[in-house]
Amino acid sequence: MLNKKDVILACDFPDAASVFSFLDNFKSVRRKPFVKIGMELFYSEGTPMVREIRHRGHPVFLDLKLHDIPNTVRSAMKVLAALDVDMVNVHAAGGSEMMRAAREGLLAGASEGRCPKLIAVTQLTSTSEQMLHDELLIGPDMPSTIISYARNAAASGLDGVVCSPLESSVVHANCPEGFLTVTPGVRFAGADHQDQKRVMTPSDARKAGSDFIVVGRPVTRAADPLAAYERCIAEFLNETLI
Ligand code: C5P
Repeated sequence: MLNKKDVILACDFPDAASVFSFLDNFKSVRRKPFVKIGMELFYSEGTPMVREIRHRGHPVFLDLKLHDIPNTVRSAMKVLAALDVDMVNVHAAGGSEMMRAAREGLLAGASEGRCPKLIAVTQLTSTSEQMLHDELLIGPDMPSTIISYARNAAASGLDGVVCSPLESSVVHANCPEGFLTVTPGVRFAGADHQDQKRVMTPSDARKAGSDFIVVGRPVTRAADPLAAYERCIAEFLNETLI
């Protein structure tokens, strides 16, 4: 059972040894952190890694951002559902038919009562307003684009979207009650944004109404990852870990 709100740790590591040594930092934490497995780790270590992290008791978001023709996405989602993860995703840019096919594939592959949450990436948090217009040739502004993609996702039966915390409130205002906002692009106040363009602090993401924040480098590259994770939990959930 997932918490209604949580911090998801993006485990962007190249191999099993690095991810397990990172997760060892959280052995003292009573609730196992929610972990995101992205392309780097999945492409290097594959499904055994997903099973091992599940086996260790971590909720898992498998962030593979599927974007292909509906038939291919349906079949791929059926395979991913069998991994018993908690959350998977597609690109909303793949369209409504593709998103519906993703949901069908998940339902076909999931064990009873254990269907992963299915969410859609609206626009990457590394995409700026200028890139949206000049490179992707999308005319409407960022919030209008995100709202339109989120509405398509909701109408296709998805559970939520990936967006920046800057857009959480407009997504909630324009989508059904309970529709989730999962938001990367999180940085502590005053920290380097790196390649992220649309960012907020964990506490501002909470105020904006994000349901889940996804945090990678601010924790994975911190001198003290446990302290950085505790700070995220404190700012986003108003809780302490101990
Ligand atoms: O290190 P950082 O906190 O920037 O990591 C953000 C994570 O969220 C990365 O794993 C990235 O792939 C993912 N992500 C994102 N923007 C999206 C969707 C996913 O940054 N729109």
